[in-house]
Amino acid sequence: MEGHQHIALNGFMGVGKTSIGKQLALQMHRPFIDTDEEISSQMIMPITDIFSIHGESFFRELEEKTVITACNQQQRAILSLGGGAFLSEKARAHCFAHTFVVSLHMSFEKWYARMTPFMDSRPLLQQKTLFELRNLYEERQLIYRDCHFQLCVDELTINEAVMEIGRAYE
Ligand code: S3P
Repeated sequence: MEGHQHIALNGFMGVGKTSIGKQLALQMHRPFIDTDEEISSQMIMPITDIFSIHGESFFRELEEKTVITACNQQQRAILSLGGGAFLSEKARAHCFAHTFVVSLHMSFEKWYARMTPFMDSRPLLQQKTLFELRNLYEERQLIYRDCHFQLCVDELTINEAVMEIGRAYE
């Protein structure tokens, strides 16, 4: 995949973009950039506070800028995108031009079982019914389908996922 300087991991909240991305970065000797972490340190507050104090559209504007800046950086990196990054057409197009876009997929059942204890850590998952969570999950699958490589992580360990991504990128 020459021409794509970075690898960007996309997918629904909690599918493992950060843990897989960190491991991939270690193995490929590349810097790791988590767009949520960048936004959080820029604002000096957690993502949940940015949503509750400034609102989602403020967060989305920052997210778009952060994704574009990460794509434009010189050194080849591993990027972990927030699950809603591709809601911005501009951020999506920029990622496609500069990164090898990997979508991590997890079945709803597996995801729900895994995320149940952590729902409060994501503003969009807080106090949602099972029906609402499933709707959000389904709606989002459309933006994750758009990628260079899709990997189902249901049955994979972090290391197995890293190996698969490395192979697809070569
Ligand atoms: C969001 C995903 C989160 C974070 C924010 C919104 C989304 O990132 O950016 O809570 O809209 O899917 P993770 O996918 O890293 O959890």
